Amino acid sequence: RTVYCAGTYMPQSEARLGILDRGTLFGDAIYEVTVVLDGRLIDNGLHLDRLERSLAALAIPMPLPRHEIEAIQHELVARNELEEGTLYLQVSRGEADRDFVYPADMRPNFFAFTQRRAIRDTPAQRQGISVALMPDPRWARRDIKTTMLLGQVLAKREARATGFADVWFVEDGVITEGASSTAFLVTRAGAVVTRPNSHAILPGCTRRAVQALCARHDLVFEERGFTPDDIAMAAEAFQTSASSLVTPVVRVGAISIGDGTPGPMTRRLQRYYLEAAL
Ligand code: PDD
Repeated sequence: RTVYCAGTYMPQSEARLGILDRGTLFGDAIYEVTVVLDGRLIDNGLHLDRLERSLAALAIPMPLPRHEIEAIQHELVARNELEEGTLYLQVSRGEADRDFVYPADMRPNFFAFTQRRAIRDTPAQRQGISVALMPDPRWARRDIKTTMLLGQVLAKREARATGFADVWFVEDGVITEGASSTAFLVTRAGAVVTRPNSHAILPGCTRRAVQALCARHDLVFEERGFTPDDIAMAAEAFQTSASSLVTPVVRVGAISIGDGTPGPMTRRLQRYYLEAAL
């Protein structure tokens, strides 16, 4: 595949990143994942907004003007003839000799690549998934989309090893979010519930889109934290992310949700999301 690296397009096999890149040494880097459906980047404006916010929080400059990043994203989709999949981009603080304290004159490293994969027609979308509950192992600024993902990597590994497809994290008795998604439940009264944005979670772009869909279709959207007991009482559960859209969750830890199959509100939101995106 063709990737973008070091200021130009090249075959992936030729792309190189220096060993002193601070993304590698310190996780000193920001990333974004945008979904591609029918060859189009979905909610990409929200992802570029968040890229700018994450970089500003770390005082890393934008590597290129926003419209040039956008042009590169579109060019990669076109050159790779990508119909359905994801586009990953990463901006690190740059390269310098290893020192926790970075010099003032760093130039950020930027690269991007596409991944071809089924997004809409998957067993997870059709049948829903099970998620394990685990203590949240992450740092205090989860609103910044950094490449420090080892907590998520280990949690997802453990979930798979114990028969779950994914993980929701718990802190102080309340669900924070999925390891790479936003966690939702639907109450028996039909309210769509997810916790408010804060430093404790990543402000999901798909979450934003679902919030807008609820407003448009007169559905109740409640921002509040919820506990495993709330999940046990819920009618439905689902999770959202760019790469997994709205995914039904039919089991959380030992709790089977509703009748153990994807619920009607989740189905509606899946449909509304695709209608709005395409
Ligand atoms: N992850 N929370 C976390 C911790 C995430 O990593 C993600 C996305 C989300 C959902 O955000 P969005 O709806 O903007 O994709 C929430 C991406 C997909 C990833 O790491 O691959």
